[in-house]
Amino acid sequence: MAQEVRGVIAPGKDEPVRVETIVVPDPGPGEAVVQVQACGVCHTDLHYKQGGINDEFPFLLGHEAAGVVESVGEGVTDVAPGDFVILNWRAVCGNCRACLRGRPWYCFNTHNARQKMTLTDGTELSPALGIGAFAEKTLVAAGQCTKVDPSASAAVAGLLGCGVMAGIGAAINTGNVGRGDTVAVIGCGGVGDAAIAGSNLAGAARIIAVDIDDRKLEKARTMGATHTVNSRENDPVEAIRELTGGFGADVVIEAVGRPETYQQAFYARDLAGTVVLVGVPTPEMKLELPLLDVFGRGGSLKSSWYGDCLPSRDFPMLIDLHLQGRLDLEAFVTETIRLDEVEKAFERMHDGDVLRSVVVL
Ligand code: APR
Ligand code: ZN
Ligand code: ZN
Repeated sequence: MAQEVRGVIAPGKDEPVRVETIVVPDPGPGEAVVQVQACGVCHTDLHYKQGGINDEFPFLLGHEAAGVVESVGEGVTDVAPGDFVILNWRAVCGNCRACLRGRPWYCFNTHNARQKMTLTDGTELSPALGIGAFAEKTLVAAGQCTKVDPSASAAVAGLLGCGVMAGIGAAINTGNVGRGDTVAVIGCGGVGDAAIAGSNLAGAARIIAVDIDDRKLEKARTMGATHTVNSRENDPVEAIRELTGGFGADVVIEAVGRPETYQQAFYARDLAGTVVLVGVPTPEMKLELPLLDVFGRGGSLKSSWYGDCLPSRDFPMLIDLHLQGRLDLEAFVTETIRLDEVEKAFERMHDGDVLRSVVVL
């Protein structure tokens, strides 16, 4: 029996979001209905609402979520009703070229639920990143659910579903940060702070946080940064060189998504070092670098897609580290809010005090 629940809808370009009744069908073959317990507010939800992703309004927003599986459809064996799960937006196929070559984060054939959630008048909803979790219940492909230890709080677990995983993964998966490495992280929002926490986990010797806002730098220290640089006041490339014996960092993680910060990252790394781009640029952004510098400095220029994560491998491991007290995920939750406060959370996103607002249901 289809169910009616409350969910947060973006009705049209730049219109305020609002809570509506949505209809969630029973899970079909390969699908699951999840009772959402918490869902973080991410920049990508804002981009959906602004029409920056596509124009398939109305959207059912929310994609950084954890909850409990309520029911599963035919053929689902990996998760069962009652399982505590983190949702991911890339249920990989396991069979395409990327999957077979061991790079499932570039799977070309990811699965979302096949059925549609609708408004009560039958209007089809587009779930943000194939999830739509600012809702009491949501319909997903079972492969989007990763079972984790239920003693973790949902507000904390959900964050691994997007921004925090992107940052941690940029350090431990893409950047391959290792014991004794020097790391610089440019941009210390939720993603950059997660990259700092990930570098700390990986055993980095020095972690240099760079931001234009002193409040962010203070917070970055609590996440594991050993040094901070305000790049409004100091040239970050020089400062990073000074802090690394004149060499530059082994790994520089760019978590802003702008040409000028990418350029800083490029020059702030040691010869043969690694640059990881995890900030998301806009389509018109361009970068010009002397090709001789690209040649002469060696190393690798990488980008990190969803932290190059494999949810089934990384989510349970990170939850385990969190429960052991070795990864403070609570520090990323600035405030918990209700479903009807999502619009307000969007407005607060850029005021500097918020890492993550998390809807708790
Ligand atoms: N130099 C250094 N830091 C900067 C600069 C700059 N020129 N401009 C902005 N910042 C800082 C901001 O002060 C803020 O602390 O970058 C941080 C960005 O953080 P958020 O806006 O909270 O964004 P976050 O959620 O961390 O995501 C960062 O990663 O996933 C992508 O789309 C996301 O592109 C975004 C980036
Ligand atoms: Zn695949
Ligand atoms: Zn997100």
